[in-house]
Amino acid sequence: MEPLIKLSETEENSAREIERVSDPSAIIIFGASGDLTMRKLIPSLYCLFINNLLPEEFIILGVARTKMDDAQFRIKVTEALRIGSNCPLDEDSLNKFVNFIYYHPLDYGNVKTYKVLSEKLRKLEDVGVPGGNRIYYLSTPPTTYSIISENIGLSAQDGGWRRIVIEKPFGRDLESAGRLNEQVHRYFSEDQIYRIDHYLGKETVQDILMFRFANAIFEPIWNRQYIDHVQITAAETLGVEHRAGYYDNAGVLRDMFQNHMMQLLALTAMEPPAAFEANSVIDEKVKVYKSVRPVSLDNLRNHLVVGQYSQGEMEGEQFPAYREEEGVKPGSQTPTYAALKLYIDNWRWKGVPFYLRSGKRLKKRHTEIAIQFKDVPHLLFMNFIKEKIGPNVLVFTIQPDEEIKLTLQTKMPGTRGGLREVIMDFKYADFYRGASIDAYERVLIDCLSGDHTLFVREDGVDATWRLLTPMLDAIEKNSNICPVEMYDCGSSGPGLADEMMTRDGRQWRGL
Ligand code: BG6
Repeated sequence: MEPLIKLSETEENSAREIERVSDPSAIIIFGASGDLTMRKLIPSLYCLFINNLLPEEFIILGVARTKMDDAQFRIKVTEALRIGSNCPLDEDSLNKFVNFIYYHPLDYGNVKTYKVLSEKLRKLEDVGVPGGNRIYYLSTPPTTYSIISENIGLSAQDGGWRRIVIEKPFGRDLESAGRLNEQVHRYFSEDQIYRIDHYLGKETVQDILMFRFANAIFEPIWNRQYIDHVQITAAETLGVEHRAGYYDNAGVLRDMFQNHMMQLLALTAMEPPAAFEANSVIDEKVKVYKSVRPVSLDNLRNHLVVGQYSQGEMEGEQFPAYREEEGVKPGSQTPTYAALKLYIDNWRWKGVPFYLRSGKRLKKRHTEIAIQFKDVPHLLFMNFIKEKIGPNVLVFTIQPDEEIKLTLQTKMPGTRGGLREVIMDFKYADFYRGASIDAYERVLIDCLSGDHTLFVREDGVDATWRLLTPMLDAIEKNSNICPVEMYDCGSSGPGLADEMMTRDGRQWRGL
């Protein structure tokens, strides 16, 4: 299908119109020798640095259990940047950046070692970071969040603000998330806590709200009267990689649904916020979660399908089954795929199904939100066209190729009444040529400037776990309630997911 509209290809646009954050601050990264720090945080901080988006006065202090000194850590950082930097690496910038980096070995559970950490921080701040502002970034295993936040909370700080950034997963069910919130709140107020969901930092995810509320033509039809259903897909080609220790205890519902998928759902379904400001936006998202109809456990199979990848071939390469991956328990029942049907019981959405699916080792890496509109009410062209006319579909492709497209029916030239489906599309890459801000860069800037809009609030965590926990409990206690179906690596997922759609007279969009 040919695109109907092409935006000017000559247009140059810089995505970096963000102003430098001015408050000097120390960024203390716990879990500094870990994978996330080296693959994501350090490269993002480096990009911010060379684009003048970090404060003029800052330091990065890496903290982890491994014994190392500043020089050794700087070598690791340099190596990580040489492998994984998305921004130009010239020796001069690299040397300058690395000079802002320090390291401190620490036993997370030993309060005494935090005193030594505080002293080191204070000395570094005296030289390079006036004001004493601190961001504590917890990039450690979730089991350590509670003890680290307590020990940070107990350690001294002279003046300045103090913020704590916590990576997902935030708890593993409603109860544990509540406990963790309570523990972190003993020392930090909600406005000091930044719970990360990196999907919110993605440009196309942020664009959902702009698209909905900066264009007058879509909002009047964004409801049960015009929309048949919504499909939200996050398909990955990657498997569990080296994270089986975490993943085998989590599975796709905790890993992708409680956070990323729920965020995509909320942005699609929420009401316009009173203002484009953190609490107003988050209030509307939480209202969506609270309006989601709890899934009936008596009828769970009609709403939830879970699967696990078995071995298979992808692009000529043979991949092992999930159960054969290193670190996965033999006979593991952990789902690597789920498809979930939800209803939002409010005036806008009553009766419109939202189909969410996500899985690993699928055919294609593709994340999208597809809004399928209702069929035309009356077929005017019945005499000419025998087959059903395809509905209009509005699709936000989040990744890998950021795009917004709308399918339309048009007359085929030369025919009396032949129709052809065409696509009106907007591809980010055609229009925005300036370097874009990576999701981690975005959330780091927002945390430095104290903006919570792209973070998750306590009541949001609570509401999403409240929805998922009963389902998780049910399937984990009784594997017959919703048996894990095997699917081949490189396929579109388990057959039961297709059956769920067929029962509803619908189809998944192709991967
Ligand atoms: C992470 C999950 O939060 O998101 C991973 O833990 C998943 O399992 C990843 O692969 C997907 O993120 P992205 O940005 O690659 O879509």
